[in-house]
Amino acid sequence: MDTEKPLTYEDLQAVAEHIRTKTSYRPTIGIICGSGLGGLADSVKKADILEYSTIPHFPESTVPGHDGKLVIGELEGKPVVCMKGRFHSYEGYPMWKVTAPVRVMALLGVKTLIVTNAAGGINSTFNKGDFMIIKDHINMVGMAGKHPLVGPNMDKFGPRFNSMERAYDAELGKLVRTVGKDIGLSDTIKEGVYCMVSGPSYETTAELKLLQCIGADAVGMSTAPEVVVARHAGLRVLGISLITNMTSINAQPDDNVVTNHEEVLETGKQRAEDCQRLVKETVKRMT
Ligand code: HPA
Repeated sequence: MDTEKPLTYEDLQAVAEHIRTKTSYRPTIGIICGSGLGGLADSVKKADILEYSTIPHFPESTVPGHDGKLVIGELEGKPVVCMKGRFHSYEGYPMWKVTAPVRVMALLGVKTLIVTNAAGGINSTFNKGDFMIIKDHINMVGMAGKHPLVGPNMDKFGPRFNSMERAYDAELGKLVRTVGKDIGLSDTIKEGVYCMVSGPSYETTAELKLLQCIGADAVGMSTAPEVVVARHAGLRVLGISLITNMTSINAQPDDNVVTNHEEVLETGKQRAEDCQRLVKETVKRMT
């Protein structure tokens, strides 16, 4: 378990400064790649690539299928910084550490954050392989006290009590829908509420029923803390979940649904190309 002291504003500035010395790009768009979706980072052109292990205070991703690189370059002609591999609290990292890269992105000049993730489908109208535009989230872990903004507030980023109303930008969500239609993906584009749970265990059927009752359409183990910190810093947020598996909630007793990491990664692999097309075209049209 990590017992380090949280980074100060000055520490975060020093990390941003370190990154600035390694690249001449000044990214305005940040991208976080979810499980199996790291391929998106590979479409960043003329990139400067920094291994997390070379960046001061950056943790290392410990999950199979998650890389650990910051990729800074151009996507569709726009300067981006892309996290190939993110950090999860289930790896033992405190929330301030999970979310520190988002603050570093803000200090680098990022104004829009695009988060992608792998999620289990709860909404019975979803199919494995669908993309879900996140319209809102339930931060179960944060509501239970493991929240990235607990502790002294960093006023330079945002207020003590920040609003999480309309956290996910509706205009960007609309743009993804339009792009999806234009590139032939409209049948697989859904929208809904993402619920973050701690993991690393997948949910019991009873837990899934609870999540369904409280309005979750999909469940995963990331994203909400990063979005909280992004909104605290005033960033515009777009969230896209890839439904990598349909959870057991809609299964018949003899369907024998067993969620597993291999299936999550496999679906990521199968849908990686479409995910890249969707995000790239969205970035291209973003204003
Ligand atoms: N549950 C939690 N997290 C996930 C799942 C799931 O079914 N699929 C991908 N990430």
